Amino acid sequence: MQCNVDRKLLGLILFFSEHGKTIKSGFLKARNKAGTKNIYGEEQMALDKWADEVLINGLKKTRSVRYIATEEQSDIIEINDPENEYGVVIDPLDGSSLIDVNLAVGTIVGIYPGHVLEPGEKMIAAMYILYGPLTTLTLTTGNGVHDFVMDENGVFFLTAKDIKIPDGRIYAPGALRKDYLPAHARFIESLENEGYKLRFSGSFVADMHQILHKGGIFTYPGSKGKEKGKLRLLFEANPMGKIITDAGGGISNGKIDILSIKPDAIDNITPIYAGGKKEIELIEKIMRKN
Ligand code: AHG
Ligand code: MN
Ligand code: MN
Repeated sequence: MQCNVDRKLLGLILFFSEHGKTIKSGFLKARNKAGTKNIYGEEQMALDKWADEVLINGLKKTRSVRYIATEEQSDIIEINDPENEYGVVIDPLDGSSLIDVNLAVGTIVGIYPGHVLEPGEKMIAAMYILYGPLTTLTLTTGNGVHDFVMDENGVFFLTAKDIKIPDGRIYAPGALRKDYLPAHARFIESLENEGYKLRFSGSFVADMHQILHKGGIFTYPGSKGKEKGKLRLLFEANPMGKIITDAGGGISNGKIDILSIKPDAIDNITPIYAGGKKEIELIEKIMRKN
């Protein structure tokens, strides 16, 4: 992999690219449920827990990381005596309910210079690995968003440099339509009137990869009875928010830039609108009028 970043940070990025290969190899072994629930009350897949262990155990050996927070853990893991003080936030497997039906899933990572209970704008790098027909890695270290593809030898090659989100007409709307709040309903109606095409897979990472390359908007909004939405601020919104923002788009909770929000706990959730600037401006305008 080629990129112009600090060597210690590059080492950590390479750690995740190597372990992405390991996680991919797990799909052949276990596609069943684990019989346990995570802190969000969601059923864990055996692979959710396994991928989490693989990454945590590997990170402990790097001596690069002081803080590890993952979607599958209830507390921040602090490692004493690291050589570097990085903090990492991880969704080990995103879209894991799709593993048993062989749809694209991914691993999402955000890297902080220190503690992870900080606004997303403090991240120094964010990346995701998407396990689809190809295994791809999308990365930003603040100098543009780049795509890499894994070849038959497990080596990642740069395939797209400095990606900018194009103008596009795709929308990926989560939540149940019957539970839409009024402002969100108006936003969706406006997109549909403009001829936006529906593309929602159940895998945030896969849907966002499509939005990054084809334009448009992903949303998992707040809805009736679930005003804070579903997706996780630390593990999903922030890393993907940094990537889409560095690609010229944005991420909002409908009112403000999500990357400016200081989390107060690792399990914070947030409504999400992520994609083109035009669409973000539209939802924020509609919500201001509400
Ligand atoms: P995870 O597999 O990490 O729990 O994340 C699932 C998330 C996200 O990937 C997706 O956009 C969303 O949940 C789908 O939720 P619904 O099943 O409610 O549509
Ligand atoms: Mn997820
Ligand atoms: Mn997950």
